[in-house]
Amino acid sequence: MRIFSGIQPTGRKHLGNYIGAISQYVSSQDRGEGLFCIVDLHAITVPYDPAELRERLYDTTAILLAAGLDPARCTIFRQSDVGEHTELTWLLSSVTELGRLQRMHQFRDKELAQRELVSAGLLLYPVLQAADVLAYRAAEVPVGEDQREHLELMRDVARRFNARYGGGEEVLVVPEHRIPEVGARIMDLQDPTRKMSTTGSGESGTVYVLDEPKAIEKKLAGAVTDSGSEVRRAPDKPGITNLIEILAAVRGSEPDAVQDEFAQARYGEFKAAVAAEVVGYLAPVRERYEELRADVPALESILEEGAGHARAMASETLADVRERMGVGAPRATPARGTSGTVDTVPG
Ligand code: TYM
Repeated sequence: MRIFSGIQPTGRKHLGNYIGAISQYVSSQDRGEGLFCIVDLHAITVPYDPAELRERLYDTTAILLAAGLDPARCTIFRQSDVGEHTELTWLLSSVTELGRLQRMHQFRDKELAQRELVSAGLLLYPVLQAADVLAYRAAEVPVGEDQREHLELMRDVARRFNARYGGGEEVLVVPEHRIPEVGARIMDLQDPTRKMSTTGSGESGTVYVLDEPKAIEKKLAGAVTDSGSEVRRAPDKPGITNLIEILAAVRGSEPDAVQDEFAQARYGEFKAAVAAEVVGYLAPVRERYEELRADVPALESILEEGAGHARAMASETLADVRERMGVGAPRATPARGTSGTVDTVPG
């Protein structure tokens, strides 16, 4: 089974990214053929600094490797290295409904937050994301909860393409999302009604993967808790509920088990336990990261090799899509008696 996911090279990666997505990428290596794409072309849809983009791309690559992605067992590559993604975006834009793009939550949120230009790229962002996945005919996409709407759109685009051009065949695979049961939406520590992100309440609400242990302890000690004193999940206790979820995800256990274990504990004690566990979870990643990040030529060569694999897969899909859409010259047919990988005409 092919498994695909993408991650932006923007900002610093945080505990939400790690629990919701990166840890799933790592475990998916045991289940199928993984492709993990660092999506620099998505990152240019909002104002950004070009020199910074390159640096952040290496940061993200090194974090993925430090987390346990193994280039011998999966493909790690940079989106802009595989031109098929952008070509497929254009081709798929013709089967994407404009109104749907305008109603996407992330588009509307970013549009409102944007003080400068609201770019057409921001509107087309989900089509590029659809192209990322559909180019590989991936069956499964591990993501956090905030990507659900993008996945739905991608499924619709694939279905509409197949209905319009497939002639009864599933030319593009309609992918399934894989959203974890625990940790799909890690919340901000200072404002647990919003998701943890780099643009949230600020430094103290977000635990970064590369934070020093002291910083992690401080952030968790200062996490807002709720009225009452019980360590229990409840709709009116979003702060404690979030911490229970974090601890369960990091341990790979169930929130109920965490709740039972800390039923008699005070908030302070519980927060210290969460901090210790998160430190133990992220410390090895930070240590491996330092070494990997220092060797840019090695990172480049991993990305280059990954792009080679990815291109070989994506170009096959593109050739099919172009053929079905009647775009470009007809697919070449090899002369009789020779064998080739392209379509052959019987007889
Ligand atoms: P990005 O880079 O914002 O986030 C990467 C992954 O982290 C997950 N995530 C979270 N999970 C739990 N709690 C949180 N607080 C949290 N914040 C982020 C995201 O759900 C995501 O899985 N549009 C995508 C990138 C993308 C992509 C793709 C994903 C581009 N092409 C193709 C899948 C398939 C994005 O911005 O992710």
